[in-house]
Amino acid sequence: MTRRSLMIGCGSYLPERIISNDELAARLDTSDAWIRQRTGIGQRHVAAEGEKTGDMAIRAAERALAHAGLEGEDIDLIVLATATPDDTFPATAARVQAAIGALNGFAFDVQAVCAGFIYALAIADNFIRAGQARTALVIGAETFSRLLDWNDRATCVLFGDGAGAVVLRAADQAPGAPSWGVLSTHLHTDGRQRDILYVDGGPSSTGTVGHLRMVGKEVYKHAVTKLAAVIDEALTANGLDASSVDWLVPHQANRRIIESMAHKLGMPLDKVVCTIERHANTSAASVPLALDEAVRDGRVKAGDLVLFEAIGGGLAWGAGLVRFGVPAEAAPAPVEIRREEVEPIA
Ligand code: UT7
Repeated sequence: MTRRSLMIGCGSYLPERIISNDELAARLDTSDAWIRQRTGIGQRHVAAEGEKTGDMAIRAAERALAHAGLEGEDIDLIVLATATPDDTFPATAARVQAAIGALNGFAFDVQAVCAGFIYALAIADNFIRAGQARTALVIGAETFSRLLDWNDRATCVLFGDGAGAVVLRAADQAPGAPSWGVLSTHLHTDGRQRDILYVDGGPSSTGTVGHLRMVGKEVYKHAVTKLAAVIDEALTANGLDASSVDWLVPHQANRRIIESMAHKLGMPLDKVVCTIERHANTSAASVPLALDEAVRDGRVKAGDLVLFEAIGGGLAWGAGLVRFGVPAEAAPAPVEIRREEVEPIA
């Protein structure tokens, strides 16, 4: 038997307040036309005063649990990807754990910026495969609005706030059976490039939160080549070609980067989940936000092969291939199959 992590539910949350490109253009030397043409962004959601990353993560987690038909107490691992935690410590994941009543396990944050969700997915999948966790919440949540220099038109127009979550559950799959769940994840970092996208503050450097700084053109060049390479790596590792992929759910940093990946895969754009126009770049939240939208509107269905990719500060990047949902024959509860080992009650 092969132990895998089924992706059995998802949820997301976007703050109510929307800032349009025109609203930004009213106070900055920018325009709706420039932002749309260079990035594909039309608007972004921004957290309300006092609304924290943890608040959004809790809402997304509750929705993902409801979608999976589970309660907080069923969760034994929470991995929360964020570069904008509520506090320097403890982990924002600990707040989520208490709020949803997932007191039967452990919870921690992961910091891989825009690639954070893919990193968190890989970590949770590995805990499940190793038998150290059975049911995991993987969350990406960010309030990048608090890191932005709102006078820097080159960066402040690009980002938004939000949260997305998925639920993973261990399942033992028989040899030769079609593979469901997380098929593989692929992670990379190149710390030599950390100066092209960073925040100029931190607890052990300036003692301040700091502001996001980016050499956009450089990041763009790395994104196009590194994402293409990691997509190839994911497909090759599974002996698949691009035609097997049902949906590309990419990081939403720039529409031109997303289209370049679709082109590389030979995928029509209607097989690419693109939320950038409405969400902008929500960093670690962008991939699970896009997935949740596509699951809820019926595009991504159980059995679909979904390819995730993301890149951001570090540079850190990665990809994951997931056959979404629960195979009909495995429902209702794959791992609870172990009940067979328990003596039946008289
Ligand atoms: O999630 C993390 C990963 N991040 C990314 O993947 C982002 C990758 N980079 C990008 O998406 C693009 O590089 C940007 C969208 C950030 C910028 O687009 P670009 O086509 O690379 O523009 P640029 O930085 O070369 O700037 C071109 C011009 C400059 O003016 P000059 O020097 O040509 O006169 C900028 O000052 O556009 C100017 N500019 C703006 N103009 C109007 C920069 N930002 C703005 C703005 N409005 N908001």
